[in-house]
Amino acid sequence: MTIIKSNLEVFRSGSPNNRAIIFIHGFPYDHLMWNHQVNEFMNDYYCIAYDVRGLGESPVGDGQYTMELFVDDLFEILDVYKPFHPVLCGLSMGGYIALRAMERFGEKFSGLILCDTKPQADTNEGKIKRALGIKMINEEGVEKFVSDFVPNCFGENFRKKNFAEYNTILQRSLNSNPTAVKGCLLAMAGRTDTTESLSSIRIPSMVICGEHDALSTPQVMKEMASRIPGSRFVLVPTSGHMSPIENHDFVNKMIRNFLAAYNL
Ligand code: MLT
Repeated sequence: MTIIKSNLEVFRSGSPNNRAIIFIHGFPYDHLMWNHQVNEFMNDYYCIAYDVRGLGESPVGDGQYTMELFVDDLFEILDVYKPFHPVLCGLSMGGYIALRAMERFGEKFSGLILCDTKPQADTNEGKIKRALGIKMINEEGVEKFVSDFVPNCFGENFRKKNFAEYNTILQRSLNSNPTAVKGCLLAMAGRTDTTESLSSIRIPSMVICGEHDALSTPQVMKEMASRIPGSRFVLVPTSGHMSPIENHDFVNKMIRNFLAAYNL
């Protein structure tokens, strides 16, 4: 049996002999947000999607999380499963983890897919917003925080047309552990700025952004892509912040094209 010290839940699909794609989800979601991608790629790739500390099925622990700890967890997964030349794919908070992992040990990866994320650390305003989020959880409960936060992540189009899928995701997030959600807020508020290191990225990279993403805007993401040597920028039609869910067919096609173009 494989022992993961951090006890994180790691979900593997496909053959370990194939190239691996490691999927890191956003906040406050879990590995299931990558279902459309795992189903699409598991026949050709070894898909590894895990639940970040405290979210989904991973244990909450003490809730004292940092971005460094999240990156340690990712490297522990690499050490344990030894995936073959992994491509790293992260959305939003998962992208923050991926970008910091690239800074710490970019040589471990063969490709990078950054979805709806940004390299900048939180501004003062952003940090205050995180603090207010923690206060809200303490005073009114995690459900109140999640029900305010999650609708902003999805475009209106998706929420209306795909209500059942949206509602399933929302309900899972509403069940999040408050200590874990606060821990993630603190980890994100305390994360470093990875902008300066973007120009040192030496692996094939793709930046994917929902055209209506209000959290990691197309402008910010285009600027990020322009700093990564040779990276491609993809704008996802009709999508908000959760592009791999909201317009999964398009995103899957873009991922497939990207992987093929670089023989990954
Ligand atoms: C996410 O989707 O992971 C969050 O929106 C990230 C954040 O709050 O900065």
